[in-house]
Amino acid sequence: MSSTYSLGSTDAEHRRLIQLASHEEHCVLDACRRAGITEGSIALDLGCGPLGALAALAHVVGERGVVIGVDASEAALQKARSLLSIPHVRLVHADVHDIELEPADLAYSRLMLLHQADPSRTVRHIFELLKPGGVFIAHEASDLPNHAPSSEPHVPAMTRVWELVIGAARARGANPTFARNGRTFLEDAGFRIESHRAYAVHYPAATGYDIPRIALQSLRPVIAKHELASEDEIARLDRELEEAKQRADVQWVASPLMFEWIARKPY
Ligand SMILES: C[S@@+](CC[C@H](N)C(=O)[O-])C[C@H]1O[C@@H](n2cnc3c(N)ncnc32)[C@H](O)[C@@H]1O
Repeated sequence: MSSTYSLGSTDAEHRRLIQLASHEEHCVLDACRRAGITEGSIALDLGCGPLGALAALAHVVGERGVVIGVDASEAALQKARSLLSIPHVRLVHADVHDIELEPADLAYSRLMLLHQADPSRTVRHIFELLKPGGVFIAHEASDLPNHAPSSEPHVPAMTRVWELVIGAARARGANPTFARNGRTFLEDAGFRIESHRAYAVHYPAATGYDIPRIALQSLRPVIAKHELASEDEIARLDRELEEAKQRADVQWVASPLMFEWIARKPY
């Protein structure tokens, strides 16, 4: 596991990431279509976790293409192997900064850059992994508390858990600002920005309240080590999210504000 990654690799955490990934597939397909990624392409999913965008990218590139998922967690990759047996998906256990692969048409990453100590270095390395004309698609969450996961009715625990997710990333030495500063990071690395937008994903209520609940449990060792919250507060936040799940008047539950950056390496 990379040293700044704060959420760990437990079964519960993998379940959380799989739930999240299944609700994002349409965003991956849509971004690839707009970026002009076609069948037969070589696509990388950097920090793919236990599912990530692997299935969606395999669909986009088809059997004539190849998808290479890269993750620093062997446990996450084992989970991915148990979920997907698609011949044109390959999995590589490595830190993204250490990989050298054949030049790719597409590099995709979701919720990976916000965990990096030096996103400039990571983006510069991604640039090197692409062919001239290759595309980088980043789907990253805003680090700002007012862009935290939300719902109607408002559940304050969702905002607080997001503060802890970001606080834990910072405490581990990550710089979680890529989503809102993507233009600077990408242009400094030599990319030409093709488009950007913000979006949020809506989940069924039970899933939407479970995602921060599990994240809170995953963060416990980092929260304790860096004294980011007391055990009493963690228990209270957990209760608040569990109670929210039982409510009958939930209108919607949404992800944090996600930023999509699509950028091309010049020919
Ligand atoms: C929040 S999870 C997101 C997983 C997946 N992209 C998704 O959206 O479902 C971040 C993943 O990135 C991996 N990761 C973080 N930093 C990494 C690095 N420097 N090299 C390789 N993997 C990394 C973690 O192990 C974890 O599986």
